[in-house]
Amino acid sequence: MSHIDSAPSTPGKVKMEKSSYFFTRGGGARWHYSLAKLTVWSFAFLALILIFFLRSPAPSAITSAADPSRRSLRNYNWGGSAWEKRVRASARARSSNGLTVLVTGAAGFVGTHVSSALKRRGDGVLGIDNFNDYYDPSLKRARQALLERTGVFIVEGDINDEALLRKLFEVVPFTHVMHLAAQAGVRYAMENPGSYVHSNIAGFVNLLEVCKSVNPQPAIVWASSSSVYGLNTKVPFSEKDRTDQPASLYAATKKAGEEIAHTYNHIYGLSLTGLRFFTVYGPWGRPDMAYFFFTKDILKGKQIAIFEAANHGTVARDFTYIDDIVKGCLGALDTAEKSTGSGGKKRGPAQLRVFNLGNTSPVPVSELVSILERLLKVKAKRNIMKLPRNGDVQYTHANISYAQRELGYKPTTDLQTGLKKFVRWYLNYYSDGKKAVE
Ligand SMILES: NC(=O)c1ccc[n+]([C@@H]2O[C@H](COP(=O)([O-])OP(=O)(O)OC[C@H]3O[C@@H](n4cnc5c(N)ncnc54)[C@H](O)[C@@H]3O)[C@@H](O)[C@H]2O)c1
Repeated sequence: MSHIDSAPSTPGKVKMEKSSYFFTRGGGARWHYSLAKLTVWSFAFLALILIFFLRSPAPSAITSAADPSRRSLRNYNWGGSAWEKRVRASARARSSNGLTVLVTGAAGFVGTHVSSALKRRGDGVLGIDNFNDYYDPSLKRARQALLERTGVFIVEGDINDEALLRKLFEVVPFTHVMHLAAQAGVRYAMENPGSYVHSNIAGFVNLLEVCKSVNPQPAIVWASSSSVYGLNTKVPFSEKDRTDQPASLYAATKKAGEEIAHTYNHIYGLSLTGLRFFTVYGPWGRPDMAYFFFTKDILKGKQIAIFEAANHGTVARDFTYIDDIVKGCLGALDTAEKSTGSGGKKRGPAQLRVFNLGNTSPVPVSELVSILERLLKVKAKRNIMKLPRNGDVQYTHANISYAQRELGYKPTTDLQTGLKKFVRWYLNYYSDGKKAVE
């Protein structure tokens, strides 16, 4: 009978049996025989460990196929001298007083526009994005190609990858982080709640952990959301209002982000500015947003669902054109004060801000559809439905006086003008039939 056959089921007991065998019953020859056997097994065990380490991926390529919310941490290739050279070149500012900005979520809608605007004015920009498939990744790849032409390199990786973030800060001492990577969308949160925790909470904390410990600490500007106003009914929404009634898990994770930002500012002296974006739209936009899929469905002759609140109440949004949002982001970066900590320790009070970035003129969703009908020259098949309780709120309206005062933020594009630009881009982008929209 082998010793495995006789092994008891609990590990504690194995230990006990072994000690009694060796010390109370064993004679000299048997003791030597057992020692030899033990040595052979130890070598076999060590060999197995060695094989395991040789076959397992590098720390930069953690595989987590079993957990779909962490799928984005798989198989990224980074590192090496050619890669570092690209990182450095992309992050190099044209002038000595230019900013050096790490843009997370750079292949996203807002990230692409902000990265390209920063690069155009001479700042150094490096992007990071995990290119997840929440929506068609080919659109993210097309944005990446666009940025590449302007000299912006997007590192493919996840903000949860601490080793990667540390490496990036080792290669480039970023003065600023523009943090836009997140799991967006309110309805998808009921389908995949883990992805919101992964990107919006764990990812944000990981990023802040790295930022607090590097020297010098960067100043951080990050995207919160108008959704933090949740079920509030007092309009326009002001930064001074309470934000404790989120209507979706997405909103709750953004609200959590604001509290987490407060903590890292308080403990480590990180300079943190949160921007509450109000329904951003425009060219290269997000296919999961109403203006985008309405356009697609109207062109296909498909019925579109237009929601109304109780008692035929109007559902309206403070639609904000992407160029205005970009100006707000740049204003926030330019007015961000330096972080005050070093080596993970706070040295004095640091800046902590939250701004609304909206358009201050809510438009009913039915009016959005009418504008699209005129621009597309196609009549929409409207299906009026009751607003479901799955995350959407009835009304958003930003008070932007604080951003106006502090950032010089002044939106200039009305919905008609902005949608015209979006529709022109949409028709051009999807016209050749190659980029089929699902
Ligand atoms: N677009 C809007 O109307 C709007 C409104 C309010 C707030 N926001 C916020 O603004 C930011 C940008 O939004 P967007 O519209 O550009 O969304 P987006 O989905 O187009 O961009 C987010 C990008 O982040 C990347 N990403 C997600 N998780 C990541 C991770 N763990 N590691 C690395 N990359 C990751 C995605 O691949 C994507 O390219 C987000 O934080 C979003 O929550 C957007």
